[in-house]
Amino acid sequence: MVEVFAVASGKGGTGKTTSTLALGMALAREHDVTVIDADTGMANILFHAGLTEAEPTLHEVLAGDAAVEAATYDRFGMRVVPCGTSLAGFREADPSRLREVVATIAADAEVILLDSPAALGSRTAVLPIVLADRIVVVLQPTVPSLSDGLKVQEYATTYGTGVAGLLFNRVTDDAAIDEIAGKAERYFEGETLASVPESDAARAARRASEPLLAHTPESAAAAAYRQAEDGLEVREGLSADVAERFQSAVIPEQS
Ligand SMILES: Nc1ncnc2c1ncn2[C@@H]1O[C@H](COP(=O)(O)OP(=O)(O)OP(=O)(O)O)[C@@H](O)[C@H]1O
Ligand SMILES: [Mg+2]
Repeated sequence: MVEVFAVASGKGGTGKTTSTLALGMALAREHDVTVIDADTGMANILFHAGLTEAEPTLHEVLAGDAAVEAATYDRFGMRVVPCGTSLAGFREADPSRLREVVATIAADAEVILLDSPAALGSRTAVLPIVLADRIVVVLQPTVPSLSDGLKVQEYATTYGTGVAGLLFNRVTDDAAIDEIAGKAERYFEGETLASVPESDAARAARRASEPLLAHTPESAAAAAYRQAEDGLEVREGLSADVAERFQSAVIPEQS
């Protein structure tokens, strides 16, 4: 039995990939976790998790050239499915195959985290949100970021995907965040899971190609992600037939 989370936001660069791996490692303390780089056009999990040499990746799986198992790597106590970064790989990949990928992994996982693309402009971009049971919305503590996040929530609810919670990232002003989080909780369906501070450790981890919780577990940012995980109650077993649930997901028609 499994729950699938999409880690999503409106704009790019809010910290989705950093947050996906950090939450994944925090969840892996008690759960069997698989992280999938579903940002197949601008993949970057490979850069955050020391997998730049990995071959095959999700691109080959989505092209029908490799099995999911071959593109699944044991890293940092999780299973990680990275995606390649070449334009050719993206062109060959059939995004709708992500349903089968999630269905296959779901048969033998407790938690799946989908690192999601920014924006909602294409079928590829929205698919993780459509497939997920719930989204974790990553927000920077600004009004434009909240307003983008609300669009993501609106999209998710249209497809029956719930909101697991909000993660504020790159927070610099503790006083301001209380006010903005209070506002956000009036409009979002999920609670604030944590406020992650602007952090040299997060930047250094990225440079070292390691997830934050592996690189600097004692940092304040890492502690915030562990706190976020404490507030994230995994709801396994939402449906008896997981394969059917993901394979039958309707992919919206849009350009
Ligand atoms: N709390 C933080 N403090 C400082 N830097 C951070 C923090 N979180 C993320 N970053 C840095 O910000 C950059 C963007 O983060 P990340 O790649 O996680 O964002 P993203 O939302 O996945 O971006 P994209 O939309 O491009 O996929 C990275 O260089 C990362 O190291
Ligand atoms: Mg990213």
